[in-house]
Amino acid sequence: MWLLSKNVLPEDKKEEMMQQYIIGNWKMNGTKAEAQKLASGFLKRIQEAERPLPKIVLCPSYPYLTTVFDILKNSPIEMGAQDVFPEKSGPYTGDVSAIQLTDVGCKYVIVGHSERRLHHKEDCALIRKKNDVAIKAGLRPILCIGESAEERKSGKALHVISSQLKSDLPESFSPHEMIIAYEPLWAIGTGHLPSHEEIEEVMGLIKHELSLHVSGGGLVPILYGGSVTAENALGLLELPHVDGLLVGGASLKLDDFWDVINASQR
Ligand code: PGA
Repeated sequence: MWLLSKNVLPEDKKEEMMQQYIIGNWKMNGTKAEAQKLASGFLKRIQEAERPLPKIVLCPSYPYLTTVFDILKNSPIEMGAQDVFPEKSGPYTGDVSAIQLTDVGCKYVIVGHSERRLHHKEDCALIRKKNDVAIKAGLRPILCIGESAEERKSGKALHVISSQLKSDLPESFSPHEMIIAYEPLWAIGTGHLPSHEEIEEVMGLIKHELSLHVSGGGLVPILYGGSVTAENALGLLELPHVDGLLVGGASLKLDDFWDVINASQR
């Protein structure tokens, strides 16, 4: 459901959007003490950094959002949640609203991660609603899209990506309100990555589709995610269409994530 966005990109957002983004998705890992240690460790490295840094976002589990925010609140590191429920409030046991997330310091939220699509049977109508509700509450969704191994093998990857974009994106948004993460399902946590050519092909398609359908859409940051490590980050971040990385496992190790951050090119 592509609708031409009528929103205009504010001038002051353009510079921020040209940065690379390094986003750590901690998933359902660790304890409160470990979250504190990791967040404080990153903060110390940021304070001692001698070069300009990319935009860094950490996404802890719900119970540790406040703990992590208390550590990061006066720093350039920002915080995101791993999911959001698309209603404002009410009888939704176990769910968390966008307003509750902004209330505890989140600026971003991961939406449509393949693990949620798989374990919680999330479909595109729900994902679109989550994106919409998040944006309206002032949260910036990081929409995850990607093909399965079977779809890649049968030559359908580009078709799948294109139809996910069409069905998952909200009806209207401004480029600075969204981030897209291309995460092939078969690359998440497996150690198998697409070739640089395959990544560039998909990223190029996403940028093309966005610039066709959204005013200024070519500026929406497009990240790669799936088995990013300290070793492969530089090669990925040097690719012209890659505006950053969504990092799972490697974001739980201070030294590895710091190496990924330092591989940023802008
Ligand atoms: P991974 O996870 O880096 O551990 O492969 C990435 C993700 O699921 O976002």
